Amino acid sequence: MNVLKHILAGLIAVFLLSACQPNNNSQEQSSIDQQVEALLEQMSLEEKIGQMCQVNGGGGTLNDDFKQMLKEGRIGSILNEVDVTTINEIQRISVEESRLGIPVLIARDVIHGFKTVFPIPLGQAATWNPEIVREGCRVAAAEAASSGIKWTFAPMIDISRDARWGRIAESLGEDPHLTSVLGAAMVKGFQGDDLADENSIIACAKHFVGYGAAEGGRDYNSTLIPPRELHDVYLPPFEAAVDAGVRTFMSGFNDIDGVPATGNEYLMRDVLRDKWQFDGFVVSDWASVWEMINHGFAADEKEAAKRAINAGVNMEMASTTYEDNIAALISEGLISEAIIDQAVREILRVKYEAGLFDNPYIAEENQYQFAKPAYLEAAKLAATQSMVLLKNNKQTLPVSKNKTIALVGPMANQAYEQLGTWIFDGDSTLSVTPLMALQQELGAGKLLFAQALATSRTKHTKGFKQAIEQAKKADVIVFCGGEESILSGEAHSRANIDLPGAQNELIRALKQTGKPLVLVVMAGRPLTIGAVSEHADAVIYAWHPGTMGGAALADILLGKANPSGKLPVTFPKVVGQIPMHYNHKNTGRPANPDSWTHIDEIPVKAPQTSLGNESHYIDAGFTPLYPFGYGLSYTTFAYSGLQLDKDVYAQDDRIQVSFELENTGEVAGDEVVQVYVRDVAGSVSRPVKELKAFKRISLNQGDKTSVMLEIAIQDLAFHNIDMEKVVEPGEFQLWVGGDSTTELSTTFKVE
Ligand code: GLC
Repeated sequence: MNVLKHILAGLIAVFLLSACQPNNNSQEQSSIDQQVEALLEQMSLEEKIGQMCQVNGGGGTLNDDFKQMLKEGRIGSILNEVDVTTINEIQRISVEESRLGIPVLIARDVIHGFKTVFPIPLGQAATWNPEIVREGCRVAAAEAASSGIKWTFAPMIDISRDARWGRIAESLGEDPHLTSVLGAAMVKGFQGDDLADENSIIACAKHFVGYGAAEGGRDYNSTLIPPRELHDVYLPPFEAAVDAGVRTFMSGFNDIDGVPATGNEYLMRDVLRDKWQFDGFVVSDWASVWEMINHGFAADEKEAAKRAINAGVNMEMASTTYEDNIAALISEGLISEAIIDQAVREILRVKYEAGLFDNPYIAEENQYQFAKPAYLEAAKLAATQSMVLLKNNKQTLPVSKNKTIALVGPMANQAYEQLGTWIFDGDSTLSVTPLMALQQELGAGKLLFAQALATSRTKHTKGFKQAIEQAKKADVIVFCGGEESILSGEAHSRANIDLPGAQNELIRALKQTGKPLVLVVMAGRPLTIGAVSEHADAVIYAWHPGTMGGAALADILLGKANPSGKLPVTFPKVVGQIPMHYNHKNTGRPANPDSWTHIDEIPVKAPQTSLGNESHYIDAGFTPLYPFGYGLSYTTFAYSGLQLDKDVYAQDDRIQVSFELENTGEVAGDEVVQVYVRDVAGSVSRPVKELKAFKRISLNQGDKTSVMLEIAIQDLAFHNIDMEKVVEPGEFQLWVGGDSTTELSTTFKVE
C-alpha cells in the first residue's frame, strides 16, 4: 500500500509540475523537478538509501567491493578522491553499469584554494573585500573542478569569537555582517553563475550551526547559545548563504544546549527549510550522525539514524547508520518512506542542477588546470590585501631597498607552513616564501638570513648566536615567526596562544642589538603578542598567507604595496580575556577608564569599595590588544562631514550615511571605511555597536572623496523580548571610521 501511495503521489507531482507554465529560469527548474520525480519513481528503497550515503574514497578507492557498491547504486557521494582517471571510472561504472545510471557527487574540502593556495579564510576576511574573496573561490573552483571535484565543503561561516579554537583559522571572524557578506561572496565564487559550468563546484554552508561557540574554545565542545544570540549572531551568515544560492549545508559536530546540530529538527526543518525555504540538501559532518550516541542523544545507531533523518540530514558522511538502519526503520514504521523520498529528491535535484546527469566526466583537455599565472596573481593580491599593519613606529616601514635586512625566524622560509590549515591539495612547490621573495628583490649583500629556530615550536636557543650576528650586520631586522600550519585548524585548540617555542626569547635577544625590528606573524589565529610586540618597532600580521605570501610580504616590506588589511577578529592582550569581541553588551557597569586601577597600583589594604566597581580585569584591564576592524596604512586617512539624510526614519526607509574621506599622507592607499550602529535601548539589551556597512576605498595621496553608504532600517532588526524579529522605535547611534573604536558619530531615530 505504501509503495502504491508513493507512485500515485509521484504521478500527481509530475502532472502538477507539467501543468504549470513557468517562465524561462523556473522552466529549467521544473524540468529538473520533473526528471527528479520520474527517476525517484523508479528507485528501489536500497537505491534511495544509496543516494543518502557518502563514503570516504582516496587511495585505492576502486577496489572490487567499491565497484560492486557502485554497480548496486549504494553510493551517492564520494569524498577525498582527486585522481581524475579514478573519478572518471567511478562515474563510468555508476552511469553505465548500475541499474539507473545515477552519477556520484565527488566532494573535497576546498577551503582556501586547491593547488594555488589563498590566505586562510580568516586572512581573506582581513581584506574586507568581497570581490577578492569571490575571485579566490572562483580560482579554487576551476582548479578543483579540473581535478574531478564537483562539491566543496565550504564556506565555513561559523562566527568565531575565541582565538583558542583552532578552527577560527577557517572562519571569517567574529562579526555576523562581515561573515555574511564574505560568506555569500564565497558561495558565488564557488558556484559561479551556472552550477553546471565545468569550472563551477557546489558550495556547502558549514557548520550549521554554532560550532564556533564551543565552550572554552575547545574543539567539538558543547555550546550554550541562547535563542536570541542564535538568531542574531550565529544564524545570519547561513541565511545570507541561502540568499546567495548555496545548494548544500553541513550539520555541525556540536550540540546546542544539549541538542546536537545533526539531530536538530528546529534548525534544519523549521529554520532552514520552512523559514528560509532552502531546497538543497544537508550532509552530516564526519560521523556526526553516529556521534549522537556519544552525545547521549541516541541510544544506538538505529536511533541516531532516525533522529538525523527526521531532523533533516539528507546524506550521512563517513558513518553508515543510514545504510545499516533505514530499511528496518521503515519496515518497523519508525520513519516514513516519504521522508526518505524527500531526502533523495533534494539530493537528486542538486545533482541535476550541477549537470552531472548531462556530463559526469572530466574531458581530457579540462584536466589538471592548475597554477595559471592569473591564479597566482589573484593569490598574491589576496595575500597583499589580507596583511594587517598593526604597528609602525618611527616609520620603520617600508624599508628602503638600499638598506640591509636581516631576515630571521622559523616562518621566513617555510613553503608548506605558510599555506595554512585545510590544504589537502596545496602544492608547496609553488610557494614563494619571504626569503625567496626578498632574495629576488634585494641584491645579495642586502639580505642576510638566519632561520634560528627549526620550527615555530623549537625551544632550544642554539640558533640565536648566528641570528644575532646577522642582525648586527644589518640596518633592520625582519623577524618572521608565528605558528606552523598544524597548530591551528580542526582539533588544534590551544589554551596558551603566545608565540610558541623560543620565539619570544629570540625576539628579545634580537632587540638587544638596538636595530629597528619588524615583527611579522604568520598564524592561524590571533596570538597574544602584546608583550613581545613591545620590542618591535613595526608589526605585520600575515595570517597564513598562502602560496604567494612571501611575494606579498616583500612588496609590503619594501613599499611596493601599501598594507590595507583590517582585523576581522578582536586580538586579546592575554588569553584570560577571552571571550572578547567588539559587539558585546554594555552590562549594568560598563568598564570605565577613569576608575580602573591596575593590580600593581592598588594600595595595600585598599577598602573594598575604593576601586572602580565596573566590568574589567584588575590585571588585564578591559580593552583588547587590537580591536576589531583595526589596521594601519603607510598613509593616513581623515574622516569628516558625517551626516545622515534624515533625523527620523520610518521602518521601510534606508539610511544614507555620507562623509568625506581624505588621504592625508604621502602615498596612495586603500581604506576600509566602516559603519557601526547601536540601538540605544530595546525590549532586550543590545550590543554597544554592530557593523552594518563597510567599503574598501582607494585614494591617492592628497585626494579627498565623498562617500555615501546605505543601510536599510530593517538591517537593524533583532529578536525582541517576544523573539519577533523587529526594529523597535527609539534612538540609535551611528559611527563611521577605520575601526570599531572610532569616535566620529551621530544619532538618529526610528519611528
Ligand atoms: C571534518 C570537518 C569538516 C570537513 C569534513 C570532511 O571533520 O569538520 O569541516 O568538511 O570533516 O573533511
